[in-house]
Amino acid sequence: MIAIEHVGKRFQARGRTVVALDDVSLEVEAGAFVAFVGPSGCGKSTLLNMIAGIDSPTTGSIRHDGRAVAGVNRHVGYMTQTDSLLPWRTAEANVTLPLELHGMDRTAARARASELLETVNLAGFARAFPIELSGGMRKRVALAQLLAYDPGTLLMDEPFGALDAQLKLVMQQELANIRDRTGKTVAFVTHDLAEAIALADKVIVFSGRPGRIKAMRDIDLPRPRDMFTVRFERRFQELYEELWSMLAPEIRKGEAL
Ligand SMILES: Nc1ncnc2c1ncn2[C@@H]1O[C@H](COP(=O)(O)OP(=O)(O)OP(=O)(O)O)[C@@H](O)[C@H]1O
Ligand SMILES: [Mg+2]
Repeated sequence: MIAIEHVGKRFQARGRTVVALDDVSLEVEAGAFVAFVGPSGCGKSTLLNMIAGIDSPTTGSIRHDGRAVAGVNRHVGYMTQTDSLLPWRTAEANVTLPLELHGMDRTAARARASELLETVNLAGFARAFPIELSGGMRKRVALAQLLAYDPGTLLMDEPFGALDAQLKLVMQQELANIRDRTGKTVAFVTHDLAEAIALADKVIVFSGRPGRIKAMRDIDLPRPRDMFTVRFERRFQELYEELWSMLAPEIRKGEAL
């Protein structure tokens, strides 16, 4: 479980103070899929960075599975907002990288990587370099890399943001299936409210900066969910309208700045 208690984050840069987050408290239960939405700059990536332990709160505290997060959190897999595949490594070698860093021997790491590339439907592309892959295929490699050392918790920052609408659905379905199969805890940041509702058990709406929790909504759509059709369900539309009425004013405020 991830327990975020009264977390605030303030950045000091070039004589300017930016309050990114203010008094954020929430719990992500073990096995839950929680999606975060909110206007640009409201501190979503900052929050994931702090759960991953690569940044720390100015006030408040974060606990993960009962331990205070202090320093890099090795119990999470983190897919950051920018694609982090190494261009000089093949798809397979990118997937084995976190395993090598965890001290797994090369043969075992390669066996695991080929299993994972199969899971994300890239079995034939182990030897390809990132530049030889489409945007969607690169995201699949990043997904395989994220799953490589089998962390119990996944942090994903707008993982499908740059994909076209159709490919996005395919990737969402793959993530939903992997998650249903493995029961991993997921903290997922997105700008796409429909994506948040389709995937999550709970959606959290942030206000504009400083980011505060404006709404938390349990998503009571049954599982497994079909990403290609779930958005046509009446319940989905009700949830969408309710959450959009919370999110839209925050986005509008941002436009006025
Ligand atoms: N290392 C840093 N130094 C100074 N300011 C920072 C730093 N990281 C983030 N910020 C500021 O904190 C605020 C929140 O940034 P963050 O990246 O968390 O927003 P976000 O919600 O992820 O936005 P987006 O949706 O555009 O990705 C922004 O105003 C940003 O400029
Ligand atoms: Mg961000």
